[in-house]
Amino acid sequence: MKKTIAVLAGDGIGPEIVAEAVKVLRAVAAAYGHDFIFDEQPVGGAAYDAVGDCLPDATLAACRAADAVLLGAVGGPKWDALSPAQRPERRALLTLRKELGLFANLRPAKVWPCLKDASPLRREIVDAGVDLLVVRELTGGLYFGAHRRAADGRSAVDELPYAVDEIERIARVAFAAAAARRGRVTCVDKANVLATSRLWRETVQRVHDAEHPAVALDFLYVDNAAMQLVRAPGRFDVILTDNLFGDILSDEASQITGSIGMLPSASLRGDGFGLYEPIHGSAPDIAGTGVANPLATILSAALLLRHSFGLAAEADAVEAAVGAALDAGARTADLGGRLGCAAAGAAVCAALHAGRREI
Ligand code: IPM
Ligand code: MG
Repeated sequence: MKKTIAVLAGDGIGPEIVAEAVKVLRAVAAAYGHDFIFDEQPVGGAAYDAVGDCLPDATLAACRAADAVLLGAVGGPKWDALSPAQRPERRALLTLRKELGLFANLRPAKVWPCLKDASPLRREIVDAGVDLLVVRELTGGLYFGAHRRAADGRSAVDELPYAVDEIERIARVAFAAAAARRGRVTCVDKANVLATSRLWRETVQRVHDAEHPAVALDFLYVDNAAMQLVRAPGRFDVILTDNLFGDILSDEASQITGSIGMLPSASLRGDGFGLYEPIHGSAPDIAGTGVANPLATILSAALLLRHSFGLAAEADAVEAAVGAALDAGARTADLGGRLGCAAAGAAVCAALHAGRREI
């Protein structure tokens, strides 16, 4: 299979972790006879420093032309003083999501068996099983409503718009995902206060009844959901929620798994095209020191293989290799170990090769 992957390393630890994921993808290409072309493009603060724009036109064009996008991270203190619209987070990430139509953000969070002790939760809670998927609406809601500051600077408004179509399409993604998992969707909202949440409830219920009646559906207020996530995370299969709540709950879910350095994400358009990135940020404090955990990015590459290229066996192999490397003791600093970023990537490549030999 011949495919082009736009590679946007970005800022902070971005280049280090993306380099390891690319190594793993090259190893997959070699082992399975694929031809992956990596089109590296600047993004974020690095692009701002180079050409004065966190999302240069050429980078966006390269993403549109590619079959999938692999992204590291953007942002850092160096660019905090830019105007809100020019900052890497909004100009690069949010614009990429909107321009590429990536409305469905999948954030799987599970506790790897050998990392149970890395979870801050009590062992009996973790033993009940933590394997959930946050399905976050990614191109609407609070992050894309109007942001206004009054002329006198003394008040501000952020609008939270949602339309039925936007809710329907993300609900369909969540129900389809649940049908392929444990068959349960929990819709998280704040319907006791927000009009948009009431629209979400009605719409999600309607899509459920008409299209996915076999999937179990329940609703939780977001404050309760945040509590249940640490009290009984095993109760969740698929969490369906809006842009803001999904942002917050996915960070919470990541901590349950032991480290935010383990969580991948897929941002999908609905036709197979997608952007894949770890859910963590650019970690400027450890950038350049070679200690970052590349596993979330490597696992994002596995999602890329599965969702954009339909290469399920290859994706399974990468995930199994990550598990095998962890089982063999590969631990970066965030997991209490001493392995560097490149060594962790090499451990996954070695496990990938060993796994191939066993087949
Ligand atoms: C994430 C990040 C972004 C978001 C920021 C950097 C804009 O936190 O991908 O979760 O809120 O979507
Ligand atoms: Mg976030």
